[in-house]
Amino acid sequence: PKTILIGAPIDSGQRRPGCLMGPAAYRVAGIAREISAEGHGVEDWGDLTLPPLKPVTCPNPAVHSLAETVGWAEILMDRVDDALSAGGFPIVMGGDHSLALGSAAGAAAFAARQDRPLFLLWLDAHSDFHTPLTTTSGNLHGTPLAYIAGRDGFDAFPPFPAPVPAHRICMFGIRSVDPAEQAAMLERDIFINDMRVIDERGLVAPLREFLDLVRREGGMLHVSLDVDFLDPSIAPAVGTTVPGGASFREAHLVMELLHESGLVTSLDLVELNPFLDDRGMTARLMVDLVGSLMGKKVFDRPTRAK
Ligand code: ARG
Ligand code: MN
Ligand code: MN
Ligand code: MN
Repeated sequence: PKTILIGAPIDSGQRRPGCLMGPAAYRVAGIAREISAEGHGVEDWGDLTLPPLKPVTCPNPAVHSLAETVGWAEILMDRVDDALSAGGFPIVMGGDHSLALGSAAGAAAFAARQDRPLFLLWLDAHSDFHTPLTTTSGNLHGTPLAYIAGRDGFDAFPPFPAPVPAHRICMFGIRSVDPAEQAAMLERDIFINDMRVIDERGLVAPLREFLDLVRREGGMLHVSLDVDFLDPSIAPAVGTTVPGGASFREAHLVMELLHESGLVTSLDLVELNPFLDDRGMTARLMVDLVGSLMGKKVFDRPTRAK
């Protein structure tokens, strides 16, 4: 399938301005070139714009920018569904992680029409499993996985098309979970690969287990890659750095395994804040990782002639 780039210049899911420059940074870092170098067609649908806002309310006074976040979710849901319906492989260039409230919903709507199960791979330091009712920061980028899993409290948002059962959700790389999130996670059968698990088992075995399940069930796979999955030393351009993240080699290995699986059907690139970057190194790394996902081999890079 041809890759379809969708720019989502979204800042509303957290408080630090800058993520809205993400799509521009990915283009400057050469994302389209990287994908076409691997022999794939690429179409850039440009940046989305926020639709007119509807009045919404939330009983939790901490929550901010709810109407904007709902507006973005609605447009993204529609565009990701459109891209999949056009036979494309959508890559949503964010934008903070609240964009996954829309992108995953679009993937779920499409999967439901195809009568295929949707799986979620959440590559993130955080579990993002709050609801608008449980968040204490009020930042809605901490909520998308709860919406995807069908938790209550998302009345302001469109009903999630086909909530993803817990056993089809894999959290990978997490190392920062709030108490309310942990309580809700423990009630469910989510595939939780926190850093403790990865340190003990390595990342290949747990990732293969999940991918085998996707394959056995004939599923679609939406991957949500948060910049803070990566270690802050190699990826400083994110507002919510957490020490102990994935290394350059681990992150590329994940992408290579995903490529070899042939299972990934849509992708989010989230939380890049170019204002915090160091000479573009984070944007470049994210684009490099997209290259590996599209088939580039990291260790033959220096000699590869095309
Ligand atoms: N759990 C924290 C909160 O709810 C951090 C969430 C960070 N999420 C992210 N997508 N970076 O505020
Ligand atoms: Mn449409
Ligand atoms: Mn996140
Ligand atoms: Mn995160």
